[in-house]
Amino acid sequence: MLENLGHELALGRFGRPLHCLEHTNSTNQVAWDLALQGATTGTTVIAQSQNAGRGQWGRTWQSQPGGLYLSVLVQPQALSAAQAQQLTLAAAWGLATALSDYGIPVRLKWPNDLILEGQKLGGILTETRLQRGLIHQAVIGVGINWRNSVPETGINLEAFPELAFSTLTAIVLKGLEQGYTYLDQGEIDAIVPEYLGFLSSLGARIRWAGREGTITGVTAEGDLRLQCDDRAGPLEIQLKPGTIQLGYSGSGEPDSAVAPSVNQGR
Ligand code: BTN
Repeated sequence: MLENLGHELALGRFGRPLHCLEHTNSTNQVAWDLALQGATTGTTVIAQSQNAGRGQWGRTWQSQPGGLYLSVLVQPQALSAAQAQQLTLAAAWGLATALSDYGIPVRLKWPNDLILEGQKLGGILTETRLQRGLIHQAVIGVGINWRNSVPETGINLEAFPELAFSTLTAIVLKGLEQGYTYLDQGEIDAIVPEYLGFLSSLGARIRWAGREGTITGVTAEGDLRLQCDDRAGPLEIQLKPGTIQLGYSGSGEPDSAVAPSVNQGR
């Protein structure tokens, strides 16, 4: 499946060079190893399966053959450490845009989940290396359920039988590159409103730490904006990723799921 992938893709900056592996521990890890050897922005690693796929919050990402497991190395021009979450936001927006343009009606579950028909289609894990307060290098890792089997809360792309693996790879690389390029050029303020257009929980009522309110958006830093109407404190609360887990329906609950676990549709 991966033998001729490089030739089949019309690549931009991302995907050059393209490292295709049958099996590895984690494509994010391989991308970091390549970074240590001098690899530069756009270097991409794809594997047919992983035995130590990394997910958000220390979880494991199940990585059976049939899924897309891809990581891209980037070296931002001038992103501060505080902007790390923007890399994920921009990547999520780019992926959602590229998949939607192809006719796959994905939504986003804040901050980093790709949703299809209310179920988890994929996720993004961004890892960064800092130098003097700036993001020196980052690896943006994407896992998407293509033909692999998924748990109850997950979904794959079987409903799109004409979608070849190479086409999905091209869509993902295009989306990631567009998101990253906008961000690197300082266009985060243009990305946020479009990200909100994909946000499944926009307008949802949630409860969090004794407060109650409505999700009104996401800040440019990638925090969730909660407009409270309970008069118990400040009108707006901004929640950092990891402080709350939103349900697929948009409901909120305190984040109790940060312990390592297996993740592919949760
Ligand atoms: C999530 O938990 O939702 C994010 C999952 C990201 C998984 C991908 S698979 C390719 C890349 N390599 C990894 O080890 N993790 C990411």
